[in-house]
Amino acid sequence: MISTEIRATTTRRTTMKAVVQDTYGSSEVLDLRDIAKPEIGEGDVLVRVRAAGVNPGDWAIMGGLPFIARPVYGLRKPKNPVRGTDVAGQVEAVGTSVTRFRPGDEVFGSSKHLGGAFAEYAAVSEGALAPKPTNLTFEQAAAVPMAGYVALQALRDHGKVKAGERVLINGASGGIGTFAVQIAKSLGASSSTTWRTTHCPTCDVPSLHGGCSCRTAGASTIGGSPVGVALSARRCRLRS
Ligand SMILES: NC(=O)c1ccc[n+]([C@@H]2O[C@H](COP(=O)([O-])OP(=O)(O)OC[C@H]3O[C@@H](n4cnc5c(N)ncnc54)[C@H](OP(=O)(O)O)[C@@H]3O)[C@@H](O)[C@H]2O)c1
Repeated sequence: MISTEIRATTTRRTTMKAVVQDTYGSSEVLDLRDIAKPEIGEGDVLVRVRAAGVNPGDWAIMGGLPFIARPVYGLRKPKNPVRGTDVAGQVEAVGTSVTRFRPGDEVFGSSKHLGGAFAEYAAVSEGALAPKPTNLTFEQAAAVPMAGYVALQALRDHGKVKAGERVLINGASGGIGTFAVQIAKSLGASSSTTWRTTHCPTCDVPSLHGGCSCRTAGASTIGGSPVGVALSARRCRLRS
C-alpha cells in the first residue's frame, strides 16, 4: 500500500537515475535511465543511496534464474525493474508510522521487493534498516546486509552455535564465509575453515582449481576433534 503522507519533505525532483532492466538476461539488459523516485508506504524509509552492495542474488534476479523462482521475481521480466538490494545512505524521508529514523540519519539495510538499490533513492522497510555504525564507510556498510544476515541466521538462529563449540566453515574466504568466521568468534566458538585456493585442511589434498573432493561440509571431525556445526558457504547449506 502506498501512503501519501510523508512526515518529512522530500526534494522537489520527482525523477532519479537508476539501473533498470526490461527483460531477463546477462549484464547487457541493464540500462541507466531516469525513472520516477520510489514512493514510500507508512512503514517505509526513503534512503538517498550513497553506496550499494552486489550479491549473487542480484545476478540471479537479473538472469531470472533459477526458473523455478520466476513466480517470485516476475514471470516474463522482473516485477521490480531496478536491480540491487543492499544499500547504505542517508534518510531522505520517513513514512507516518516510522519511529526509529529521521531525515539525515545514516543507515544501511536491504531495499524492498527484491531490488531498488542501484539508484539515487531506494525505499526500505523500517525493519530492514539499521543505523550505520560511525566507524564504517557507506561502502563498507553496503557490503554487509545480505551476506552478513545469511551468516548470522545460519550460525546464531539455525545452528544455535554456543560458546566453546567448534564450527566448520566451508567457503570461508567468500562473502558469507568471512562474516561467518567473525560471527562464530563473537559467539565464543572457534572455527575451522576451507576455501578453494589452498590445501583442504581435512584431507590435505591441494584443491587449487579443482575444488576439494572430500565434501568437508559433511565431515563430523577435523583432526580427530568433533565439529558442532558445519556451514557450507560454498553452497549455502548448514549441518548441525
Ligand atoms: N552473498 C549472499 O548474499 C548470498 C545470499 C544467499 C545465498 N548465497 C549463496 O551462498 C553461497 C556462497 O555465497 P558467497 O557470496 O559467500 O560466495 P563467494 O563470495 O563466491 O564465496 C564462495 C566460497 O566458496 C569457495 N569455493 C568456491 N569453489 C570452491 C571449490 N571448488 N572448492 C572449495 N571451495 C570453493 C570460495 O573459495 P575461493 O575464495 O578460494 O574461490 C569462497 O570461499 C553461494 O551459493 C550463493 O549463491 C549468497
